[in-house]
Amino acid sequence: MKIALRNYRHTDFETLHRIDQACYASDTAYSRAELGTYLGFRGAECVVAEVATDADAAAANNRAQDSSQNAARIIGFSISARRGDHGHIITMDVLEEFRRSGIGSALLAEIEKRLVAAGVQRVGLETATDNEAGIAFWRRHGYVSVGVKKGYYAGRRDAYYMTKAVSPEAKPAGPEPGTPHARTGRKRLANSNRKR
Ligand SMILES: CC(C)(COP(=O)(O)OP(=O)(O)OC[C@H]1O[C@@H](n2cnc3c(N)ncnc32)[C@H](O)[C@@H]1OP(=O)(O)O)[C@@H](O)C(=O)NCCC(=O)NCCS
Repeated sequence: MKIALRNYRHTDFETLHRIDQACYASDTAYSRAELGTYLGFRGAECVVAEVATDADAAAANNRAQDSSQNAARIIGFSISARRGDHGHIITMDVLEEFRRSGIGSALLAEIEKRLVAAGVQRVGLETATDNEAGIAFWRRHGYVSVGVKKGYYAGRRDAYYMTKAVSPEAKPAGPEPGTPHARTGRKRLANSNRKR
C-alpha cells in the first residue's frame, strides 16, 4: 500500500467530513460548519493521507490525458493549530479499514514536524476517556494525560487533556494555556473550540 501525505485542498472538504462522520460517534463528529471553522483557524494546518488503489491506478492509466483526475483515495487526515509556542492537534482521523498500518503515525510525524518548524514547543490535544485506541495511540507517541475535562463531549463524555514536549525548551506540562481547564462541548461551539 503506497501512502502519500499532502496539504488539504478545498475540494477535499466533503471527503474529510465523510471520514470524520465515520471515525467518531455522533456526539463527537464535526458538523460541516465546525469542520470549516477548524480548517480556517489562524495557523491551522491540515494534512491528508491518500492511497493509490490498483483500480485507481488502472483507471488513471486509461485517462492519462486528463491531469485533473486524481488516482488516489483519501483515507485519513489531521488538523492542527498553534498559538505562540503551543500547538494543538484538533483532530486525527484514519478510516477503520486502514488502521494499524502506520497511517496515523505518519500523519502525526508530519503534523509535529510542521509545528516544530513554526516554533511550537509543546503540543496538546483532547481525547475521550473511553477511546482506548486513541489513548494507546497518543501514549505510544509520547503524549501523557495531565488532566480530565469533565463533560467535554456534548456535556456527557469526559476527555483527557494530553500533552507532549516537542522541544527541549518546553515548559513543564500543565493545563491548556489560554483556555479554561474544564469546559463542555456544545457550549464551546459558540467560540468554535470543540477540539479532540
Ligand atoms: C487513533 C487512530 C488515529 C490511530 O490511527 P492508526 O493509523 O491506526 O495508527 P498507527 O497504525 O500509526 O498506530 C501506531 C500505534 O498506536 C497504537 N495503537 C493504534 N491503534 C491502537 C488500538 N486500536 N489498540 C491499541 N493500540 C493502538 C499502537 O501502539 C500502534 O502501533 P502498532 O500497530 O505497531 O501496535 C485511529 O484509530 C482512528 O482514526 N481512530 C478514530 C478517531 C480517533 O479516535 N482519533 C484519535 C482521537 S483524537
